[in-house]
Amino acid sequence: MDPILGDCSLANLQRRTSHKWRTYPPEVLPAFVAEMDFDPAVQIKDAISAALAAGDLGYPHKGDLGDAFAEFASDRLGWSPDPELIFAIPDVMTGIAEVVQAIVPPGGGVVINPPVYAPFFFRLELAGRRIIEAPLAVSADTGYELDLDALDRALTQPGAGAYLLCNPHNPLGRVWSRGDLNEIADLCDRRGVPVLVDEIHAPLVLPGAQHVPFHTVGHPAARQAVVFTSASKGWNIPGLKCGIAVAGDADGATILAERWDALLASHLGVHASVAALRQARPWLDAVRAQIEENTRQLSDLLARHLPGVRYRRPQASFLAWLDCRKLGLGDDPAAAFLAAGHVALSPGKDFGSQGSGFARLNVGTSPELMAEAVRRMAAAVPG
Ligand SMILES: Cc1ncc(COP(=O)(O)O)c(C=O)c1O
Repeated sequence: MDPILGDCSLANLQRRTSHKWRTYPPEVLPAFVAEMDFDPAVQIKDAISAALAAGDLGYPHKGDLGDAFAEFASDRLGWSPDPELIFAIPDVMTGIAEVVQAIVPPGGGVVINPPVYAPFFFRLELAGRRIIEAPLAVSADTGYELDLDALDRALTQPGAGAYLLCNPHNPLGRVWSRGDLNEIADLCDRRGVPVLVDEIHAPLVLPGAQHVPFHTVGHPAARQAVVFTSASKGWNIPGLKCGIAVAGDADGATILAERWDALLASHLGVHASVAALRQARPWLDAVRAQIEENTRQLSDLLARHLPGVRYRRPQASFLAWLDCRKLGLGDDPAAAFLAAGHVALSPGKDFGSQGSGFARLNVGTSPELMAEAVRRMAAAVPG
């Protein structure tokens, strides 16, 4: 591994007290929640240390966050958002829930594409909105595709008040094409349904793939979407609580500005995010290269130890969506891996009923710990 990522020694990692490292006892290897195991970027540590030294621990000010994100988006994503339309938020899911509550009346519906990130279901239900499923289509060529007919049926259901798109998609690691996004914009425009886009995994797009920011899609309706992103996934700093919302127009900006007290980021998170976006790009690139290598090795490891598992390498991020239906472990293979193998994966069912028989493995770690996770999974399979 690149030395800037540290060595992911288990002894060091077990000193961490985050959700990943304290949910299970030490004999369980955690490979579930989307936290990575690499050492944080030195530029982020320095930014936090400087803020501590200055006693700069007050309420947040957006500071350079809008400019820093606009620079990153322009240099890396081919997107030039207006810094004035960029808002600091505590985290992506809070931003999404607040905007949904602003634009969808109580009891109204939000369309999502399962299998998809579990909080899309429960955070929005907690906010009193209904989930309308437009499941992805299974494809022999690519694993999964957007199903535009299913999307149209969902958008025309009574009460459908917003469409929440995940791009890059968690748990599949798919990036949707410009053509896909253009069709989405067109469909949602025709049906009069506003689009919210979660692009939190975009900084982690892997070599060979191209993330298309929704705001860069040529369709006029795409410009009106509210886009959510963050340095928290790419640079592994979710505990610092700072996300980014990019309004598409003045109406979106007003909604975000009016909710400033519900959307207070952490000031340390703002400092860390600016340092990440501007200075810690070599660290991000080292992580992307390591994930790329890990996904390659994962294919070999599965072929050797768990040939019954189907896996397609992702186009973005560090999550491996494993089809375990041939292993004979039932609907929840993650439960069997945990009980018999002492390795914690995310249950596929958490991502919707379409995830029954699947599990999600986190490969944001060293090749050694990833190989250990696969060995433990294999040990849980009878015979
Ligand atoms: C698609 C997606 N959105 C949002 C989040 C959570 O982000 P935040 O902690 O900023 O709410 C995650 C975390 O894994 C994610 O995968």
